Amino acid sequence: MKNRINQLLQQVQDMQATNAEELENLRIKYLSKKGEITALFGDFRNVAADEKKEIGMLLNNLKLQAQSRIDELKEQVAARTQQEEKQDLTRTPDPIALGTRHPLSLVREEIIDIFSHIGFTVAEGPEIEDDLHVFGMLNFAPEHPARDMQDTFFINKEKGIQKPTDILLRTHTSSVQTRVMTSQKPPIRVLCPGRVYRNEAISARAHCFFHQIEGLYIDKNVSFADLRQAMLYFAKEMFGPDTKIRLRPSYFPFTEPSAEMDISCNICGGKGCSFCKNTGWVEILGCGMVDPNVLESCGIDSTIYSGYAFGLGVERITNLKYRVKDLRLFSENDVRFLTQFESC
Ligand code: PHE
Repeated sequence: MKNRINQLLQQVQDMQATNAEELENLRIKYLSKKGEITALFGDFRNVAADEKKEIGMLLNNLKLQAQSRIDELKEQVAARTQQEEKQDLTRTPDPIALGTRHPLSLVREEIIDIFSHIGFTVAEGPEIEDDLHVFGMLNFAPEHPARDMQDTFFINKEKGIQKPTDILLRTHTSSVQTRVMTSQKPPIRVLCPGRVYRNEAISARAHCFFHQIEGLYIDKNVSFADLRQAMLYFAKEMFGPDTKIRLRPSYFPFTEPSAEMDISCNICGGKGCSFCKNTGWVEILGCGMVDPNVLESCGIDSTIYSGYAFGLGVERITNLKYRVKDLRLFSENDVRFLTQFESC
């Protein structure tokens, strides 16, 4: 009996298990109802009376040793599985919180993409500009009200005197067009996206800065029909194939003739609703044929070349597309607003 106990003690001390299944097999082998140690307890009654005390102690010790070795192995196995889980390269990764694109960026990219299919490339220019590029070369008369301090943020301006070198924040991205016209030869086909500034009180419908995309096409024989066709293409791509356009006569110093363009209301489909004030139409952009005075002041021969230009507000298009009623939401950085726009 003593020998058997010592034999088992040795076996118990040498027990090894690499996983839960092996461990359970060991427990069954030694400690379960039919286990080898349990069997020895059964044989105990046959032990001679004078040996009972000693053997009993050895037996109890064996049982304790077996139990504690199994507990030890259990901890090892648990630690190992945890480690393996950490290193499981096949595990689905935890999702990373991705940011979303700003709605104005989404719409700007969409507009640029639409015009890129008919040959327009992007041109950029400075937000801090001089009077010459924002007004002077664009046929604004010196006393034109848009040049007034009420509308324009001047950075330096001598009181009363209007100079081409006055420094200001651009009020439209037409200034980029004058820079392109003076540095490139026709044919010119550019889109000028960017931020513009106007001295307006901030409200739900107006802000002191907003975003524009202006377009310019100059070549031989460019006509108003070309302008209309390009605008119709844009409206259908942006607002759906059933969209209709309407051009109303208007005035801009740098285009002649000039027009304001409406699209059939994309909310009621032209039937009339509160959004389009029951007219069925909503205004989306200004456009026209580049005034020959502008071409000449930029060094382009207006007897050979003609062109069209258009300008739209990105906020306006975004409002129509996503029904954002309050302009201020675009610049408040409220994540509850921003995360509603899918990234792509
Ligand atoms: N520059 C004009 C604006 O800021 C928009 C425009 C551009 C109109 C080109 C006609 C042609 O309002």
